[in-house]
Amino acid sequence: MTKTPPYSDIDLDRWREYEHIWTDSLWLIDSRDRSGGHQLDYHGNFVPQIATQILLRYTKKDDVVLDLFLGSGTSAIEAARLERRLVGVELQPGLVEAVRAKLPPELLGDRIRLVPGDATQAETAVRVRQELAALGTEHAQLLLLHPPYHDIISFSDHPADLSNAPSVEAFLDQFGAVARHGFDLLEPGRFAALVVGDKYSRGELVPLGFYCMERMQRVGLRTKAIVVKNIAGNERGKGRASNLWRYRALAGGYYVFKHEYVIVFQKPAAPVDRRQELLQVKDMPPWGRVQDDAWDQASRFVYSTPTLRALRRETRRVAAERDLPPREFGGYVLRRWYNFHTHQAALEIILAHPRTRPEPDPFHHTVDFYLDETGFDLKLTALPRGFGHDVGYAQAHPAALARWLYAQQSQQGRFHAANRLFVVLHDAADPSRSWELRRDFARMEQALHNFLDRPRWLTVAVTDRAGKEHQPQAGVVFCVQE
Ligand SMILES: C[S@@+](CC[C@H](N)C(=O)[O-])C[C@H]1O[C@@H](n2cnc3c(N)ncnc32)[C@H](O)[C@@H]1O
Repeated sequence: MTKTPPYSDIDLDRWREYEHIWTDSLWLIDSRDRSGGHQLDYHGNFVPQIATQILLRYTKKDDVVLDLFLGSGTSAIEAARLERRLVGVELQPGLVEAVRAKLPPELLGDRIRLVPGDATQAETAVRVRQELAALGTEHAQLLLLHPPYHDIISFSDHPADLSNAPSVEAFLDQFGAVARHGFDLLEPGRFAALVVGDKYSRGELVPLGFYCMERMQRVGLRTKAIVVKNIAGNERGKGRASNLWRYRALAGGYYVFKHEYVIVFQKPAAPVDRRQELLQVKDMPPWGRVQDDAWDQASRFVYSTPTLRALRRETRRVAAERDLPPREFGGYVLRRWYNFHTHQAALEIILAHPRTRPEPDPFHHTVDFYLDETGFDLKLTALPRGFGHDVGYAQAHPAALARWLYAQQSQQGRFHAANRLFVVLHDAADPSRSWELRRDFARMEQALHNFLDRPRWLTVAVTDRAGKEHQPQAGVVFCVQE
């Protein structure tokens, strides 16, 4: 089973190799990364390393980043470098043009789309939706917000510019409007990063960072991290000015800001109705080829993809990236996805029974659930033709069928002699439609709970390829459509 989070390309099996991705909440960045097209040409931009970290941690290749305060386009340059896509909004049309001029022309339109506009306004959100649609997605997969820190830098004299807000309250209301649009435009389950610093006003610290965080929470985002980042990398030779600040600090009893925040949030995942998704499948294409490691590896995303829509999107992307035949690969992926998620739905039915409990490790190879403390593996299968007998015979001789199924898997090289509960699905009128019974949840629940109320375990004698004898316990539950 895959060990990649659903929102990044980090291979958790190789987690030791990701030293370049930070997981500590204190970021000390010595100097601005000037490589890869980044320039220090805009007072108030963030260091590229912020975008690098956030993009690697919270996006996959080709995901769409939404930056609602694009500024001089640091995030756009970084998205291009890391092969992510981006939609950027910026109030100043001149800046948008400057960012356009900085980016490789072939990316504009196809992978990066820029919108001049006021991010507080609903009409701008509508424009963003259109840009996302043009990129083939309903939602962005990451939201980046780097607003003005109220009035500490004046970005323009535009009245809608957050740096011109007449009060902190007015600034927060405008910021809240941007956060709300950002939330709506972000895919459920995905992340948002807010880069923000505090300010002093009339001898008092105004914790803008925490105020903005609270506005993000208000729209429904959940806080995952408050990262404190030094601001050394932002500074342009302050020279004598820094001495003046030090004097003021000593005289006024406060501290000179040396940090800002990168606050990370997650939008709650929309509860996906697994059963509804499974019921939408109209036809089950053939495997197209024997299950093999290469295509299994390429289609690992089936495990972490809950919806059919996302499955289709990911299938297209992977097929194009790996140059696989789209139809055959699409059929293969659909089968794997359907088999896995119907298996999970059946497991949920089992776990709703009071005598069972789950195996906490979802990657456990041989146990899906425990019944009265004995571990069992769950296997859903059509009545195999190779068994050579009809369903009536199989129901009368469950041990013979169980023995046959164990022996069969040993020939496929996937032998293990774990305890198993087999659910045998058979459409007597049209056996080629037996796959549909995997999502006949009412029938499955009745059959499984009847069994679990009074389980009848069979002890099956199984010989492995080395000739060794095993005696697992097996159960056979039939779901038959007459
Ligand atoms: C802190 S800067 C962002 C810098 C950017 N992260 C970069 O690296 O270049 C904030 C930007 O927000 C823009 N801005 C201010 N009010 C806005 C609004 N209502 N809608 C969209 N952009 C706005 C400003 O023009 C400014 O460029």
